Amino acid sequence: MKKMLSVCAAVFFTLTTLALFQFSERNAFAATGQSLFSKKCSSCHQASQFAGMSKTKFVKNTKKMSAAKKLTSKQITSIWKYVK
Ligand code: HEC
Repeated sequence: MKKMLSVCAAVFFTLTTLALFQFSERNAFAATGQSLFSKKCSSCHQASQFAGMSKTKFVKNTKKMSAAKKLTSKQITSIWKYVK
Protein backbone atom coordinates (compact mmCIF):
# COMPACT_ATOMS: atom_id res chain seq x y z
CA MET A 1 0.00 0.00 0.00
CA LYS A 2 2.82 2.34 0.87
CA LYS A 3 4.49 1.54 -2.41
CA MET A 4 1.30 2.30 -4.31
CA LEU A 5 1.14 5.65 -2.61
CA SER A 6 4.66 6.63 -3.59
CA VAL A 7 4.01 5.56 -7.19
CA CYS A 8 0.98 7.82 -7.22
CA ALA A 9 3.01 10.63 -5.75
CA ALA A 10 5.71 10.16 -8.36
CA VAL A 11 3.18 10.22 -11.21
CA PHE A 12 1.52 13.30 -9.78
CA PHE A 13 4.83 15.05 -9.36
CA THR A 14 5.88 14.27 -12.93
CA LEU A 15 2.63 15.53 -14.41
CA THR A 16 2.75 18.73 -12.39
CA THR A 17 6.33 19.40 -13.43
CA LEU A 18 5.48 18.77 -17.08
CA ALA A 19 2.47 21.07 -16.93
CA LEU A 20 4.48 23.85 -15.33
CA PHE A 21 7.25 23.39 -17.85
CA GLN A 22 4.88 23.62 -20.80
CA PHE A 23 3.27 26.68 -19.35
CA SER A 24 6.54 28.55 -18.90
CA GLU A 25 7.73 27.45 -22.32
CA ARG A 26 4.61 28.86 -23.93
CA ASN A 27 5.14 32.16 -22.15
CA ALA A 28 8.74 32.29 -23.27
CA PHE A 29 7.56 31.67 -26.82
CA ALA A 30 5.09 34.53 -26.66
CA ALA A 31 7.68 36.82 -25.11
CA THR A 32 10.12 36.08 -27.95
CA GLY A 33 7.44 36.78 -30.54
CA GLN A 34 6.60 40.04 -28.86
CA SER A 35 10.17 41.29 -28.71
CA LEU A 36 10.89 40.20 -32.29
CA PHE A 37 7.77 41.97 -33.44
CA SER A 38 8.61 45.21 -31.68
CA LYS A 39 12.18 45.14 -32.97
CA LYS A 40 11.56 44.10 -36.55
CA CYS A 41 7.97 44.80 -37.52
CA SER A 42 6.38 47.46 -35.32
CA SER A 43 7.90 50.33 -37.31
CA CYS A 44 5.47 49.50 -40.12
CA HIS A 45 2.82 47.26 -38.54
CA GLN A 46 0.39 47.11 -35.66
CA ALA A 47 0.11 43.66 -34.08
CA SER A 48 -3.69 43.94 -34.25
CA GLN A 49 -3.45 44.16 -38.03
CA PHE A 50 -2.72 40.43 -38.16
CA ALA A 51 -5.34 39.23 -35.70
CA GLY A 52 -7.21 36.29 -37.20
CA MET A 53 -4.77 35.71 -40.05
CA SER A 54 -3.99 32.06 -40.68
CA LYS A 55 -0.52 30.80 -39.89
CA THR A 56 0.08 29.77 -43.51
CA LYS A 57 -0.78 33.18 -44.86
CA PHE A 58 1.15 35.00 -42.17
CA VAL A 59 4.32 32.96 -42.66
CA LYS A 60 4.11 33.22 -46.45
CA ASN A 61 3.65 37.00 -46.45
CA THR A 62 6.19 37.58 -43.71
CA LYS A 63 8.84 35.79 -45.73
CA LYS A 64 8.40 38.46 -48.42
CA MET A 65 9.29 41.20 -45.94
CA SER A 66 12.92 42.24 -46.11
CA ALA A 67 12.72 42.79 -42.36
CA ALA A 68 12.16 39.06 -41.94
CA LYS A 69 14.99 37.84 -44.16
CA LYS A 70 17.17 36.74 -41.28
CA LEU A 71 14.37 35.20 -39.23
CA THR A 72 14.01 31.44 -38.92
CA SER A 73 10.64 29.76 -39.46
CA LYS A 74 10.51 29.15 -35.74
CA GLN A 75 10.92 32.83 -35.03
CA ILE A 76 8.24 33.76 -37.56
CA THR A 77 5.92 31.24 -35.92
CA SER A 78 6.59 32.82 -32.55
CA ILE A 79 5.71 36.24 -33.97
CA TRP A 80 2.51 34.76 -35.38
CA LYS A 81 1.63 33.30 -31.98
CA TYR A 82 2.02 36.75 -30.51
CA VAL A 83 -0.07 38.65 -33.07
CA LYS A 84 -2.76 36.11 -34.02
C1 HEC B 1 9.61 48.78 -43.83
C2 HEC B 1 8.24 48.52 -43.44
C3 HEC B 1 7.86 47.10 -43.06
C4 HEC B 1 8.46 46.30 -42.11
C5 HEC B 1 9.65 46.60 -41.20
C6 HEC B 1 7.68 45.06 -42.10
N1 HEC B 1 6.65 45.13 -43.01
FE1 HEC B 1 5.23 43.73 -43.33
N2 HEC B 1 4.39 44.87 -44.81
C7 HEC B 1 4.81 46.16 -45.15
C8 HEC B 1 3.95 46.67 -46.19
C9 HEC B 1 4.06 48.05 -46.84
C10 HEC B 1 3.00 45.65 -46.46
C11 HEC B 1 1.86 45.67 -47.46
C12 HEC B 1 2.40 45.46 -48.84
C13 HEC B 1 1.96 44.18 -49.38
O1 HEC B 1 0.91 43.66 -49.00
O2 HEC B 1 2.70 43.64 -50.23
C14 HEC B 1 3.31 44.54 -45.59
C15 HEC B 1 2.59 43.35 -45.55
C16 HEC B 1 2.79 42.36 -44.60
C17 HEC B 1 1.99 41.17 -44.47
C18 HEC B 1 0.78 40.80 -45.33
C19 HEC B 1 -0.43 41.49 -44.75
C20 HEC B 1 -1.72 41.10 -45.43
O3 HEC B 1 -2.77 41.54 -44.91
O4 HEC B 1 -1.71 40.37 -46.43
C21 HEC B 1 2.48 40.45 -43.42
C22 HEC B 1 1.96 39.12 -42.88
C23 HEC B 1 3.60 41.19 -42.91
N3 HEC B 1 3.77 42.33 -43.63
C24 HEC B 1 4.36 40.76 -41.82
C25 HEC B 1 5.48 41.44 -41.36
C26 HEC B 1 6.29 40.97 -40.25
C27 HEC B 1 6.00 39.74 -39.40
C28 HEC B 1 7.31 41.85 -40.10
C29 HEC B 1 8.47 41.77 -39.11
C30 HEC B 1 9.34 40.63 -39.26
C31 HEC B 1 7.13 42.89 -41.12
N4 HEC B 1 6.02 42.61 -41.87
C32 HEC B 1 7.95 43.99 -41.26
C33 HEC B 1 5.85 46.84 -44.59
C34 HEC B 1 6.73 46.36 -43.62
